[in-house]
Amino acid sequence: MPHSAARALTALALFTPTVLGATVPPELFSPLVPQKILATFQNLPNPTKYPQYTDQTVGAWQLFSPDTWTSGFFPATGYALNTRKSLCGATSSNGLDIADWLELSREASTALVPLEIKNNEGHDVGFLSFPFVEELAFHSADLTGNNTLRNIGTSHADTTIKNHIRPDGGTWHVIHYNTFTGAVTAKKTAQGFSDNSTWSRGEAWGIYGFANMWRLTGNTTYRDTSVRLANYFLGNIPSDGIVPWDFNAPTVPAPRPADSSASTIAANGLLLLSQLETAPDLKKQWSDAAIGLLANVTKLAWDPSWQSLLSNGTVNEPANNQLTGTVYGDYYFVRAGNELIQMGLASCNSSGSGSSGSSNGGSGSGAGGKSGALSLTTGYASEGLVV
Ligand SMILES: *[C@@H]1O[C@H](CO)[C@@H](O)[C@H](O)[C@H]1NC(C)=O
Ligand SMILES: *[C@@H]1O[C@H](CO)[C@@H](O)[C@H](O)[C@H]1NC(C)=O
Ligand SMILES: *[C@@H]1O[C@H](CO)[C@@H](O)[C@H](O)[C@H]1NC(C)=O
Ligand SMILES: *[C@@H]1O[C@H](CO)[C@@H](O)[C@H](O)[C@H]1NC(C)=O
Ligand SMILES: *[C@@H]1O[C@H](CO)[C@@H](O)[C@H](O)[C@H]1NC(C)=O
Ligand SMILES: *[C@@H]1O[C@H](CO)[C@@H](O)[C@H](O)[C@H]1NC(C)=O
Repeated sequence: MPHSAARALTALALFTPTVLGATVPPELFSPLVPQKILATFQNLPNPTKYPQYTDQTVGAWQLFSPDTWTSGFFPATGYALNTRKSLCGATSSNGLDIADWLELSREASTALVPLEIKNNEGHDVGFLSFPFVEELAFHSADLTGNNTLRNIGTSHADTTIKNHIRPDGGTWHVIHYNTFTGAVTAKKTAQGFSDNSTWSRGEAWGIYGFANMWRLTGNTTYRDTSVRLANYFLGNIPSDGIVPWDFNAPTVPAPRPADSSASTIAANGLLLLSQLETAPDLKKQWSDAAIGLLANVTKLAWDPSWQSLLSNGTVNEPANNQLTGTVYGDYYFVRAGNELIQMGLASCNSSGSGSSGSSNGGSGSGAGGKSGALSLTTGYASEGLVV
């Protein structure tokens, strides 16, 4: 009957998958990932210093003293490989069988020191939200029953929504306040192109941080905020798919430096949104976007010859520190691989399984353990917010 034939056609059309979706890059699960990370563990000096970024030419890690805000990321990457091992097993084909990741990470964490909250800028400055600040505050409240930090975390997030986010979903990096009245006196940048440009890593921290606040509180105001930032981020990537270090930085001279870490951090934020949404189309929308970011950043920045997993990171462009590997870019690359496996969107040693994305795996709780907590603490000092 023509009628049922038409119905069948309609059904077919509805279920034809979109051909635009990127596939999960197999490099996420390459044995080179554990090989490089093991080599970095083995090269840590005694007394311990930690990798933060590489040089610009051969991709050799530059090491920093334990009180640097980024110190926790490298041990956290080791813990993430231990998580990978629990998800995938340790085989010679996935390369995870070459080390005891838990032991290595524990050993490398012993030199980490919890940092004081530093406020070098004076009391009237607030930085764009660093997602660890809230996460740490909430974990601390759960552990101790002391809600003081939780309340600070919530009020910080609310201040960020009020003062750091522009109507178009872009963000200001630094807000100056009048100490006495609390009034906003200026909106500036620290590492971005200009005072009212949108620094891409700040935008990425915001996507991730507000998705995390939604996870922690269940308050959909935070989901809506994360989504606004995600829409800005995705909507401002140029057609070549390269996430620039600042969305408003000039395109000449070309190439405008990328920031691979902005891509991997944003990808984790989008995966968290995908996990937390319940509607299948939204779950898929966010996981597809995350996979697209990961595919594009891998194509640009995966460099087997470098000690870091990725090149094309920008630590601080105005200080001429760009086109390096970054320890946080690599950490979020490994973590994204774990999340994709937990969500059923990738298999352990190859590219995506193409599942519909309806599962809600992935705890989103990061590296865990003592070092995880310390890495959160170290997050306070530099890019983080001063309450
Ligand atoms: C709760 O935590 C805050 C901030 O760390 C601290 O100042 C306060 O003394 C704590 N309160 C109790 C009852 O432990
Ligand atoms: C940037 O901010 C300054 C000061 O608030 C304002 O005068 C200028 O129009 C802004 N530029 C853009 C492109 O928004
Ligand atoms: C959700 O968060 C917003 C922003 O902080 C707040 O105004 C609102 O009251 C919260 N809603 C609930 C149900 O707690
Ligand atoms: C990935 O890059 C392609 C261009 O190669 C672009 O069309 C696509 O929009 C990019 N995807 C994302 C999520 O940025
Ligand atoms: C990416 O990194 C390579 C190696 O440092 C560099 O040659 C290239 O110009 C960079 N591209 C972008 C867009 O940053
Ligand atoms: C993936 O893992 C399975 C089981 O460990 C193994 O049999 C297979 O060869 C691996 N595939 C690749 C491409 O490494």
